[in-house]
Amino acid sequence: MSKILVTGGLGFIGSHTVVELQDKGYGVVIIDDLSNSSVKVLDGITSITGKQPEFEQLDLKNKQKVEAFFLAHQDIIGVIHFAASKAVGESVEKPLLYYENNINTLVYVLQELQKLKSPNFIFSSSCTVYGQADKMPISEDAPTKKAESPYGNTKKIGEDIIADVCKVNPEMNAIALRYFNPIGAHETAKIGELPIGVPQNLVPFITQTGAGIREQLSVFGDDYPTADGTCIRDYIHVVDLAKAHVVALQRLIEGKNKSNNEVFNIGTGKGSSVLEVIQAFEQVSNSKLNYKITARREGDITSAYADTHKANNELGWKAESTLDDAMRSAWKWQQQL
Ligand code: UD1
Repeated sequence: MSKILVTGGLGFIGSHTVVELQDKGYGVVIIDDLSNSSVKVLDGITSITGKQPEFEQLDLKNKQKVEAFFLAHQDIIGVIHFAASKAVGESVEKPLLYYENNINTLVYVLQELQKLKSPNFIFSSSCTVYGQADKMPISEDAPTKKAESPYGNTKKIGEDIIADVCKVNPEMNAIALRYFNPIGAHETAKIGELPIGVPQNLVPFITQTGAGIREQLSVFGDDYPTADGTCIRDYIHVVDLAKAHVVALQRLIEGKNKSNNEVFNIGTGKGSSVLEVIQAFEQVSNSKLNYKITARREGDITSAYADTHKANNELGWKAESTLDDAMRSAWKWQQQL
């Protein structure tokens, strides 16, 4: 069986991707250090797919262990690399931690990947590399901007490192997926997002408020130059995003990529305001959400939504779920929790 390594495979996007890979018949080996995930996620994955993926608890910062892992798994035909720290605020406080966690580990994985017979690599990038783009929707050829945070910078530097490696190593094949805002959970409510502490992202904060865990949602600013004054984002169902990884990996395995280093935006193409997300939540939960308008959050951009033509036409992938679908699954997951 073709084996895929999924680093960070017990995390939010990683776990949903493992499910989709197994559904397509791939064998999966997960590396996760459990720093921001739980080993219980393995049970969720196994219960959905009927197959238990291989799992190794390993800290990718340990170069020797990474080397030994790859030596023992030479049948790997592709790596999907999710493992990274992702809290924007924390990255501002602890930049070196973020550079070590997100950059050192990427380097170690790429060093070992290069030695494989099929060095196929999918990288978790982010629309954050565009900053506040001048034109909406954002296409892949929009210029990247100086990162607002060390976290964002690790995504930009990560893409640059991959580009440099691909330039000198024609055997290597990489795709960076620039995610817009992933939300939602698996329809079975057996896996979903598990924020530690107070959620920084909008949707888990909404569902926790709906569940009574948080008292009130703060809407960060209603004086943006948008129709209702709140920020616009492109919220994509995590299962759609997971499927994009499988399609991208298949493209590399089948040799259909047009160059050995490609980039795709992964979003729905539709922008929604914070108030529209709240409305969607209220509709699917049949309840009123307690929220108030507060000051803007530093570093927030007004608007970001994807031009999805390249992903639609070249990857043959399209987001299928609506915002309501995603909010319904997020709410079901929250209630199950
Ligand atoms: C954030 C990160 C981004 C990262 C992404 C990962 C920042 C500035 N950006 O994106 O780099 O790739 O998460 O998921 O942190 N909002 C509220 N109240 C809240 C929380 C959020 O009104 O309690 C609003 C925000 O102002 C924003 C929208 O909801 O307009 C989405 O916020 P969030 O979920 O944090 O995502 P981003 O900021 O887009």
